[in-house]
Amino acid sequence: MLGTTVLATALTAASLAAGAALTRVSYPNNATSKAEMWIYVPDKVVDNPPVVIVIHSCQSTAQSYFRNSKIPWAKGSDKKGYITVWPSSPNSGTCWDVSSKASLRTNGGGDSQAISNMILYAIDHYKANPARVYVTGGSSGAMMSNVMAATYPQLISAVSLYSGVAAGCFVSSSGGVDAWNNSCSGGQSKATPEAWGNVARNMFPGYTGLRPKMQIWHGSADGTLAPANYQEEIKQWTNVFGVDQTPTSTVANFPERNYRTDNYGDHVQGIYATGVGHSVPANLTASEEWFGL
Ligand SMILES: *[C@@H]1O[C@H](CO)[C@@H](O)[C@H](O)[C@H]1NC(C)=O
Ligand SMILES: *[C@@H]1O[C@H](CO)[C@@H](O)[C@H](O)[C@H]1NC(C)=O
Ligand SMILES: *[C@@H]1O[C@H](CO)[C@@H](O)[C@H](O)[C@H]1NC(C)=O
Repeated sequence: MLGTTVLATALTAASLAAGAALTRVSYPNNATSKAEMWIYVPDKVVDNPPVVIVIHSCQSTAQSYFRNSKIPWAKGSDKKGYITVWPSSPNSGTCWDVSSKASLRTNGGGDSQAISNMILYAIDHYKANPARVYVTGGSSGAMMSNVMAATYPQLISAVSLYSGVAAGCFVSSSGGVDAWNNSCSGGQSKATPEAWGNVARNMFPGYTGLRPKMQIWHGSADGTLAPANYQEEIKQWTNVFGVDQTPTSTVANFPERNYRTDNYGDHVQGIYATGVGHSVPANLTASEEWFGL
């Protein structure tokens, strides 16, 4: 109720001031994680709108990520009429929990489940199109994007993530919530495609339905999440989709100079940015194209 009231107030203010605003809403949340849900509904929203879930990095929040001039999703929303949901991390330091069993498993009660509840609420309350739910994020938000793809594949159509690690790569052997994992961040966590595929599949045992197509960006000069993580992510998702490790096509200097696009069939695309550090800046056009927006 509180959320509805806050939203109603924001919408009234928005129509008076002719400007939509990022608004915190309460949502039905059966997870233990109390991640906050913020939403941006543009003034000219399309019917049955697509929704993009934009997941922030560490030391950020829904509000500061929304205001960050390098994060272009509000502009895209204004231009194209889709809505954006901005989850805000409940953890100290505001990284996402991509290390505990609660988050690395469907309905395990962790941050991933809280975000899945936000998706359901966006569909239910804002009439978002359930077949057009997209997820993006940078750094910790990119790690969480991979985790969302593994834990809630039935809810998501496509993912475009910037500078993350494979789903499960940050696992904490002692079950720590929101724990840092030096082996993974340093690029020492390497496994076969089959092993990484199993890590993702085991986050939703028995699931055989559709899965989101994955666009994975990483910089060759990443000093925070080592560049080796790029290949581990590619191994993971090519295995999940049952496609070869060798690209079906490679395009040099695309979508930007010194970036290389590697396609692995229609469901996995890697974009490796030579000379770019942490984190690769979001390219709205390229991510929107991947989402079909
Ligand atoms: C939480 O809610 C979701 C969506 O309604 C439901 O699918 C899931 O089973 C619930 N999980 C638990 C642990 O209650
Ligand atoms: C770090 O992650 C790897 C998998 O990427 C795992 O094998 C290892 O146990 C984790 N380290 C700690 C300290 O939890
Ligand atoms: C973003 O990607 C598009 C192709 O999807 C490309 O045309 C554009 O130049 C890229 N943007 C920047 C800032 O490089």
